[in-house]
Amino acid sequence: MSAIGVIGGTGVYDPSIFENIHEESLMTPYGEIDYVQGTYHGKTVIFVARHGKDHTIPPHKINYRANIWGLKKLGVTFIISTTAVGSLNENFKPGHFVLTDQFLDFTKNRITTFYEGGDRPVAHLDVTNPYCPELRDILQKVGAEQGLTIHNGGTYVCTEGPRFETPAEIKMFHMLGGDTVGMTNVPEVNLANEAEMAYATISMITNYAAGISESALTHGEVVEMMGDMAAQLKALILGAIDA
Ligand code: HPA
Repeated sequence: MSAIGVIGGTGVYDPSIFENIHEESLMTPYGEIDYVQGTYHGKTVIFVARHGKDHTIPPHKINYRANIWGLKKLGVTFIISTTAVGSLNENFKPGHFVLTDQFLDFTKNRITTFYEGGDRPVAHLDVTNPYCPELRDILQKVGAEQGLTIHNGGTYVCTEGPRFETPAEIKMFHMLGGDTVGMTNVPEVNLANEAEMAYATISMITNYAAGISESALTHGEVVEMMGDMAAQLKALILGAIDA
């Protein structure tokens, strides 16, 4: 059975957008995961809330390997994930959607691979195209049809978190070519690629990054903006599943 994986990020915890849903859990070699299985127009969908259904798991504590291993085991062949991000790019405004095509990895303390040596071979993943171009094109087309402002391409800077960034860090990321900043896409995207699943992420711009924004950033502000964008996001995901 082949299934579609949806990994919901900040503000995206509600699997009731799908039909025939039931909660399940699965033991993986990396620990247990909770997921919701459902359907949409006859297609099987597996939904995982990246931060847990009550947002209790911070970015640096997410069991990325268990989530990705579990989705693979459950027959997922492609993954649509969502991420709330800050913007470093004046053309990417709060309320816009970005289909990330590159990342800069500034994480510090995460296990980033399934290939740790020992009884697994040493492997070096090609990440020329970490985010599936075909999946991004589908999301772009559906989003544009739905009237969203959706940018196909952008460089996501992944920080360790859980704190937000200093303005000096944001200035540096901007000089390095970063467009957006978030805390979760690495190692998730790499693990999905190692597991040979197509992966795309819908980044939702919730705020301008620290130092660009005139006021100090709060998690509440991010969640509030995500709430405003939730209906559009839901339609985009369902439209892409239908496409
Ligand atoms: N920085 C890091 N992560 C984020 C941000 C941000 O500005 N906004 C939403 N997630």
